[in-house]
Amino acid sequence: MKIAVFASGTGSNAEALMQAASQKQLGGEVALLVSDKPGAGALDKAERFGVPSIALAPKNFATKADYEAKVVSHLQEHGVEFVCLAGYMRLIGSTLLNAYEGRIVNIHPSLLPAFPGLDAVGQALEAGVSETGVTIHYVDAGMDTGPIIAQEKVLIEANDTREDVFRKIQEIEHNLYPQTVKQIMETKVVGGDGQNE
Ligand code: GAR
Repeated sequence: MKIAVFASGTGSNAEALMQAASQKQLGGEVALLVSDKPGAGALDKAERFGVPSIALAPKNFATKADYEAKVVSHLQEHGVEFVCLAGYMRLIGSTLLNAYEGRIVNIHPSLLPAFPGLDAVGQALEAGVSETGVTIHYVDAGMDTGPIIAQEKVLIEANDTREDVFRKIQEIEHNLYPQTVKQIMETKVVGGDGQNE
């Protein structure tokens, strides 16, 4: 299956997915990296893996639908069948959702439904909880609300700084995301409804 990875930032999760694919451990090929931030670190990482990439700034489009229509045309050009959001800091709109219904997954740095949205690590520290974690879920129109596929806990210890928690979370993310995508590819479960194709 041809997969596109969407990333807005550093791209360490995008890198983990491309690394797994390059070792035939993803159950699919990363055919395209999409960024909404020209200059994002994820774009350099794609280049290192020889993965084609596009960077489109939404502000250069009249509407979100226009932006997403352009993204969808690139996805189709590359034969993309499945999308992994990896630190893509933007809500998915109806144009993209309709084109890839049940075929978009996201990774989020909390145990959803706790701490959705921006700065999930900061939210967990602020709330004073003793554990947080990582969630991989199907994407729907809401903010981090789609059906959950996998979760893993991370303990927050008394003296943990924000950096400590973030490091523990990312360590888990870099294993859990490729493993989970591989499972999805192997079972060909799409749609987040547990139905096999
Ligand atoms: C990751 O920790 C991911 O879970 C988070 O952004 C980080 C991106 O890091 N995503 C969200 O917060 C989505 N709401 P990366 O660019 O190094 O992969």
